[in-house]
Amino acid sequence: MGKIKTIGVLTSGGDAPGMNAAVRAVVRTAIAMGIKVYGIKRGYNGLIEGDVEEMTLRSVSDIIHRGGTVLYTARSPMFKTEEGMKAAIDNCKRFGIEGVVVIGGDGSYRGARDLSLRGVPCIGLPGTIDNDISCSDYTIGFDTAMNTAMEMVDKLRDTTQSHERCSVVEVMGRRAGYLALQTGIAVGATAILVPEVKFDLQKDIIEKINKTQSSGKKHFIIVVAEGVGHVDEIAKEIEEQTGIESRATVLGHVQRGGSPTVRDRDMASRMGYHAVELLSRGIGNRVVSLRNGNLVDDDIHEALAMTKEFDFDMLKMANVISI
Ligand code: ADP
Ligand code: F6P
Repeated sequence: MGKIKTIGVLTSGGDAPGMNAAVRAVVRTAIAMGIKVYGIKRGYNGLIEGDVEEMTLRSVSDIIHRGGTVLYTARSPMFKTEEGMKAAIDNCKRFGIEGVVVIGGDGSYRGARDLSLRGVPCIGLPGTIDNDISCSDYTIGFDTAMNTAMEMVDKLRDTTQSHERCSVVEVMGRRAGYLALQTGIAVGATAILVPEVKFDLQKDIIEKINKTQSSGKKHFIIVVAEGVGHVDEIAKEIEEQTGIESRATVLGHVQRGGSPTVRDRDMASRMGYHAVELLSRGIGNRVVSLRNGNLVDDDIHEALAMTKEFDFDMLKMANVISI
């Protein structure tokens, strides 16, 4: 394979703060290496529709500090069809796109795998607030989302404290509890419920509230991952069984926005640079991850087959210290 001349970059799936920093790094690294780079709009839809734009050094100015994604994002059911895939490949040929950097979650990685199998080498970068990509200890956007959730719960704590209530707070994370666990630790939640661990309302919440109440605690925060859900019922149950007035709050999409933290900007920049370096060396079909503090890359197929163990010890620790 000769020197790669043109690549594309897209953001896909749920947006995450830091995606812009990754796009910026990809664009500037490519240009520095003499590679032409197209911004592909709205995830895989842009490839299917040929909605691409040549990026310049200046098209990524003033975005490193912004949440969201300037390339827009989408979930593209069409890309999973034979027809959609064919249109995407045709457009890659039409624009001379010889490699694509895909920034998204594991759904987007599956799309990247399919595209790679059809002869368009892709590099995946982990972009999701959920931190639920098995091959990576960290995903771009996770740090900002944790900080946002923490700030929101801190605000809730003020009103929970003055009313001597219990707040049951739902945080995002899709089917994973990583965001809930880290947020729960940071806000000192009395209990943290995650989908990875079956919970017993009586033992894990009611008894714990009663115990902490008897030692003088007067307000309570319960953090619930959206994968567990049912915050309204949980709050109702707590109120009925303990007599403590309870309220349920769903933090929702605020967790996806906001200016990315240092960590997200830093990781996004390093990962974006690494992705283009790989493509420039003729290496594709890989995903970039952070593992044990190191930036690594793995074959997409192998990465998708990896599993990530939930940190049960951390949950245990949170339970001990939040009393
Ligand atoms: P995320 O990347 O955040 O996990 P999704 O699961 O919604 O988000 O995936 C984003 C897009 O990736 C989908 O809309 C689709 O275009 C593509 N995709 C997801 N799963 C697959 C799959 N199994 N095969 C091919 N493409 C997929
Ligand atoms: O994957 C990111 C995420 O925010 C999840 O935490 C959540 O389950 C989902 O996306 C929400 O998706 P939507 O933006 O389609 O409501």
